[in-house]
Amino acid sequence: MGAVHEPILCSETEPARPSRRQTFLGRVFVALLIWAVLLSACQIDVPRPVAPPGASTPVDRLSQLGIFQQPLAALVPAPGVVPYDVRVSLYADLAAKQRFMILPPGQKLSPSADPASDRWEVPVGTYFVKTFYYPNDARDPGKGIHLIETRFLVRQADGYLASTYVWNDEQTDAVASGGNVLVPVRWIDARGAAHDDEFHVPGTSYCHDCHDQRALGIRTRQLDLQGSYPGGETSQISSLVAQGLLAAEPPTGLTLADLTSDASPEERSRSYLDANCAHCHAQRGSASGTHLYFDYEHTGDGALACRKVNSFAGHDRVIVPGHPEQSEFLARMQAADPFARMPLGGVRTPDRAAIQVLSQWVAQMTPAGCP
Ligand code: HEC
Ligand code: HEC
Repeated sequence: MGAVHEPILCSETEPARPSRRQTFLGRVFVALLIWAVLLSACQIDVPRPVAPPGASTPVDRLSQLGIFQQPLAALVPAPGVVPYDVRVSLYADLAAKQRFMILPPGQKLSPSADPASDRWEVPVGTYFVKTFYYPNDARDPGKGIHLIETRFLVRQADGYLASTYVWNDEQTDAVASGGNVLVPVRWIDARGAAHDDEFHVPGTSYCHDCHDQRALGIRTRQLDLQGSYPGGETSQISSLVAQGLLAAEPPTGLTLADLTSDASPEERSRSYLDANCAHCHAQRGSASGTHLYFDYEHTGDGALACRKVNSFAGHDRVIVPGHPEQSEFLARMQAADPFARMPLGGVRTPDRAAIQVLSQWVAQMTPAGCP
């Protein structure tokens, strides 16, 4: 077993739930509050090992879970471990991801019983597994990958156990971790640019700030993909039904558009906000108190135009139509202050590709002049 990265104690990387009405004077109080929350967060960022599917005793090492074949680093799933993908991946400092699901024998996912919701029902005992890694050189797959962490959400009767296993330097195994660690990453992107960064593994106490006891990608708008699946060129959803993992085809409805798709900047922007902001900014979510909603259903028809907002990054409107440079949401996505930067606690480096598309969307809006 190789070296495992030590937790960074009480770093500034996880600004957990600051209060929302932040006047200038209030910021001192909020800063103190954040430190207090961070101090307690440090104590509860404990490893939360999971048990192998079907068993009840948690294990500390990924190799003991039996979900990947040896050699582990190839991420070849064991039988019954099913790969899946989402339309719009959560931006995580340019890391690549691989996702799997494991259903308990004889159980299936099912479309929501609530016709207004496209979130699927998940049976108790289901595992979702998401591994974060970087290519060593995106131009040359032969140079291999650097595995960072493998996250789990395990469906339990009362919600989800959220856990992460951090990979060792030798890349032979991963160990259950409390998270809140910085892992140095050196890699070369597809354009040949060299990156020398640190990836922040979130603390286990922070997972539910976004997840709030839900699997976030397991919904029709994210899983309705076309591609090569068992059964041929088909949709991912039909393939899940054919494999006996999904009880029925959900009603067709909204699907999200990837940032690099040929959909309009508006479609791509609203999809991005849905996938990257709406787990907190919606009627249910840790930023629900701001009443600023970013789910697709709440970003159409100029809903965010001229909307007044706390000025934390220099502007007082979420969107000023025609003026990306005056729109607070874009400023918050690029803020240097980690307590102001959005998504809160989620990123270290701004998502340049997204900011470009979002700016295009705002620039194309007819300038109205906010009252
Ligand atoms: C900044 C918000 C955020 C934080 C913090 C976060 N997640 Fe997620 N997670 C998401 C979103 C959004 C998705 C769905 C999109 C995707 O898969 O890229 C997701 C997907 C997942 C999945 C795949 C199943 C699903 O929900 O769709 C797992 C497993 C997971 N996260 C585990 C974790 C664990 C464990 C932690 C804490 C160590 C964590 N996540 C922290 C936002 C977050
Ligand atoms: C992990 C949860 C979380 C995520 C994800 C998140 N936010 Fe926030 N956001 C908050 C919280 C909490 C507040 C209130 C405190 C503050 O203003 O910093 C907030 C406040 C804001 C505000 C100011 C609201 C006001 O009324 O003053 C804006 C604008 C904003 N977020 C934009 C975004 C955008 C854009 C994204 C996605 C790129 C995003 N947020 C993702 C938690 C989140």
